[in-house]
Amino acid sequence: QAVYRSDYQPPTYWIDNVELEFDLDPRETLVTARIAVRRNADQASHTLELAGQHLQLQSVSVDGTPLSANEYSISNESLTLTELPETCVIETQVLVSPVSNKTLSGLYQTSGNYCTQCEAVGFRRITYFLDRPDVMATYRVTLRADKKTCPVMLSNGNRIAQRDLGDDRHEVVWEDPFPKPSYLFALVAGNLKCHRGTFTTASGREVALEIWVEPQNIDKCEHALVSLQKSMKWDEDVFGLEYDLDIYMIVAVNDFNMGAMENKGLNVFNSKYVLALPETATDEDYMLIEAVIAHEYFHNWTGNRVTCRDWFQLTLKEGLTVFRDQQFTADQTSAAVKRIDDVSGLRAGQFVEDSGPMAHPIRPESYISMDNFYTATVYRKGAEIVRMYHTMLGPEGFRRGLDLYFQRHDNSAVTCDDFRAAMADANDMNFDRFDRWYSQAGTPELFVSEHWDADKSEFSLTLQQAYPSLSGGNPGTTHRKPVPLPVRVGLLDANSGDELNEHSRVLQLETESETFTFSGLNAKPIASVLRGFSAPVRLRMDRSDAELAFLMAHDTDALNRWDAGQTLAAKLLLQSAKDVSDGVELKLSEHFRSAFARVLQDDAVDEAFKALALTLPRESVLGQEMDVIDPDALHTAREFFRSRLGEVFYTEFMAMYHALAADGAYQNDQTSINRRRLKNVVLGYLATQHSDEVIALIRNQFERADNMTDKQAALSLLADLDTPDREQALAAFYDQYHHDPLVIDKWFAVQAGSQRADGIEQVRQLTEHQDFCMENPNRVRSLLGAFTQNQVRFHQADGAGYQLLADYVLQIEAANPQLAARLVAAFNSYRRFDASRQAIIRGELKRIADHPGLCKDVHEIVQRALSF
Ligand code: ARG
Ligand code: ZN
Repeated sequence: QAVYRSDYQPPTYWIDNVELEFDLDPRETLVTARIAVRRNADQASHTLELAGQHLQLQSVSVDGTPLSANEYSISNESLTLTELPETCVIETQVLVSPVSNKTLSGLYQTSGNYCTQCEAVGFRRITYFLDRPDVMATYRVTLRADKKTCPVMLSNGNRIAQRDLGDDRHEVVWEDPFPKPSYLFALVAGNLKCHRGTFTTASGREVALEIWVEPQNIDKCEHALVSLQKSMKWDEDVFGLEYDLDIYMIVAVNDFNMGAMENKGLNVFNSKYVLALPETATDEDYMLIEAVIAHEYFHNWTGNRVTCRDWFQLTLKEGLTVFRDQQFTADQTSAAVKRIDDVSGLRAGQFVEDSGPMAHPIRPESYISMDNFYTATVYRKGAEIVRMYHTMLGPEGFRRGLDLYFQRHDNSAVTCDDFRAAMADANDMNFDRFDRWYSQAGTPELFVSEHWDADKSEFSLTLQQAYPSLSGGNPGTTHRKPVPLPVRVGLLDANSGDELNEHSRVLQLETESETFTFSGLNAKPIASVLRGFSAPVRLRMDRSDAELAFLMAHDTDALNRWDAGQTLAAKLLLQSAKDVSDGVELKLSEHFRSAFARVLQDDAVDEAFKALALTLPRESVLGQEMDVIDPDALHTAREFFRSRLGEVFYTEFMAMYHALAADGAYQNDQTSINRRRLKNVVLGYLATQHSDEVIALIRNQFERADNMTDKQAALSLLADLDTPDREQALAAFYDQYHHDPLVIDKWFAVQAGSQRADGIEQVRQLTEHQDFCMENPNRVRSLLGAFTQNQVRFHQADGAGYQLLADYVLQIEAANPQLAARLVAAFNSYRRFDASRQAIIRGELKRIADHPGLCKDVHEIVQRALSF
C-alpha cells in the first residue's frame, strides 16, 4: 500500500498533448480525453497503465479504432493497455458525478458551481491518465454546459473559441501552450462575477487579471487584486521573473481542503484567502490573503515552469515558494515582525510534528497517502532549508543559483538534488553535506557554551549539535549525521550594550562540534547567537536571567531580542507550572516584572514588535520543554502571569489602550495595523481583571468597532466571561453576520477557543447548530480544528475532548479523508502527556483504527501514532 521514493521509475510512455472535452452535468459529466502518447525509449515496455479512480468507463479507442473489453484491463485504480505502437492517440470516455464527490479532490461542486482540485492525485478522478508530475503535456480543453447555470466556463491558458450550441447550451475552448503535469489542470464553471485589473510586465506585455467570485462577493476583491499586482512586480524586481501568459485568473470557492492551488493561469482559492472588506476580515486575514496570493503566483515559476519529478520532491516547489512568499511579506510589511511570526509558527507546529509519529525528512521516503505529506515539515522546515542557502550565499549568490536552476530546468520536472546542484554550481560551492537536511528527520539541538580567556583577550563559542532520539522507526530517524549549520552571531559590549560590529558573522558548523574564537576584545562580551533564527534548531544555551534581560534590552537583532524575552518568560513559566503541581504558591518575580516594564515603556520599537514582546510564549510551545506535559498546570501558571501583569500594570495598560484607541476611523496602513495589534494585546491583559470598567471597555470596543480586527478581538474576550455579556455579544455577532460564512467561521472559532470550564459542552452543542456543516472544511476547522488548538480544553483530563474529536473524525472520514486526517493528527503528541491521558487517546486511536473500511488517509496517521 505504501509508495517508496527509492522505487521511482520513469514512465513507459510520455504524453505530449491532451485534448479534453467536458459535457458538464451535476450527476453525469461526460469526459472525453484524447491523449497523444509516445513510447519512452529508455523503457522496454509497450504497456501503459493509466491511473483512474471513481470513473465509469464508456469507451476506449486507439488511433480511432475502438477496443473491445478483452483488449484492455481495468481495475478500481487503473486502465491498462498493452502492445501499443511507438506513438498513438488514445481516446477514452468516462462519466463522473461532481455532485456526489465530497472528497473535494477531482471534479466537484461548491455552492452549485463546478471546480477541480488535482494536486496531488485528483486528476485520476477526472480521466484515465499518467497522473504523475514528471509527465508534462500541453492541454486543449473544451467545456460545454447549460448557459443558465454555467454562464462562465474557465480553464488553463488562453480562451481560443466560444460558440452557442443552441438548446440553451454553449461551449468554450481553452488552450494552454505551456507543457504541464496533470496536477496543474483546472476547470471552473458556474455563475460567477469578475473583478478585473491589469498588470504590465517589465518587458511591456499587458496581462489581464481576473478575480472570479460568487456574485454577492464582488465588492470584496480589491485587496486580492492589489496583492496580485504587488506579487507580480516583486518577483520581477527581486528574481527577474515575469509572468508568461496574457491572462491570470483566480477563483474563490467556499469548499476547499487547503488554502489555494496554483493551477496554471487559473488559481483556485479557498474564499478565505481572497475575500476581504475591513468589516469582515481582520488585519491578519488581509496579511494572509496577500501572502497566499503571492505564494500561488510565485509557483508559476517555482512549481509550474519547473516542477517536481515525483511527489517525494514536494519541498522542491513548496519549501522554495514558502521562502519566496516569506521574503515578499517581509518586504511589504516589517521584516523583523514577519520573521518572529514565522519562527513562532515553526516552533508551535513544525517542531511538534518533527518530534512525534509524523516526523519525516523534508523529502519523505515513503507515504500511503501523499495528501498526508503537505505538512509543516515539507513547507515550513523546507523554507528554512532554502533560507540557509540564502544565508550562506547572500542574496546575490542565491539569485545566481536560482538563475542557473531556471536556465537548466525550465519546462521540466526535477528533484531536490537538481536544486542543490544549481545552488552549488552557480557559486562554486560544495553543498554535498546539505543532502542530510533532505534525508534526516527531527529537530537538531544546538548546544552553545562560552569561554572568556582574559589573558589572551579571547572569547570563544563552542557549538555542538545532536539529534534527540525518535521512536517509531520511521525513515530518517536513525543513524543521523551532523548537518551543516549556518549560525549567525554578534557580540555586544557588556557595559554599554553596543554592538561590536566587527565581530558579527555567520559561523559555519560542519561537524558535530567546533570552537570559534573572537579576539581583540577588551572585556567579556555578551553573545547573541542564532540571529534571525539562521538554522532550524533548538538552541540550548545556559543563560542567566540577567543576560536574557540584557539581550531583551540591547540586542540589535530583533528576532533574538524578542526571543530573549520569550526564553526568560518560558523559564519562569515552566518553574511556576512545576510550583503549581507541587502546591507552591505562585508569584511574579521582580526580575520579570522589571523586564516587562522596560518593554512596556520602550518607545524605540514599533507597536507590532511591542505586541509580540508583551505576549507570553504559547502553552503549546512551553509544553515542549516539559518531560511530561501538564496542560492544567501550564494553563494555571500562564493565566496567573497574565492576570498578575494585568493587575500590576493596570494603569499603564489603561493609558496605552486609550491612546491607541484614539486612532479614529479604520485605516489599513502598516502603522494603523501595528497599533491595532498592540491595542488588542493590551486589552487582553486588561481583560484578566474582570472589573466593570474593563468589561465596559471591551463591550464598547465590540459595539463600536468599524473593523473586524477590533470586533473579533473583543468578542473572543467576551466569550471567556461568565456574565450575560457573553451571550449578548455572541448573539449580536451572529445576527449581524449570519449571511457571511467566513465571518460565521470566526464565530464558531471564538467559541471553540474559549477557556471556560464548560468549553467541551459548548463545542458539542455547536456541532448541532444549524450552521455547522461537516461537508465544509472551513466550518469544520473553525469549530473542531480550533478546538484542538485549545490546549487546556482539548486535553481535559477526563478525555471528553478526545472523545469528541474521535467521534467527528469517524463521521467525516468516509466523505472527506483529507480533512479527517488533518483533524486526527491532533492526537499525534499523545506520548508527551501523562499515562492516563495517553491511555485514553490510545483508546480513541484504536477505536478509529478498528473502524470498518477506514479511509487510507486516516489509517496512515493513526497507524503511525499507534506504533510510536
Ligand atoms: N500546492 C498547493 C499550495 O501549496 C497546495 C495543494 C495541496 N493539496 C492537497 N490536496 N494536499 O499552494
Ligand atoms: Zn504551495
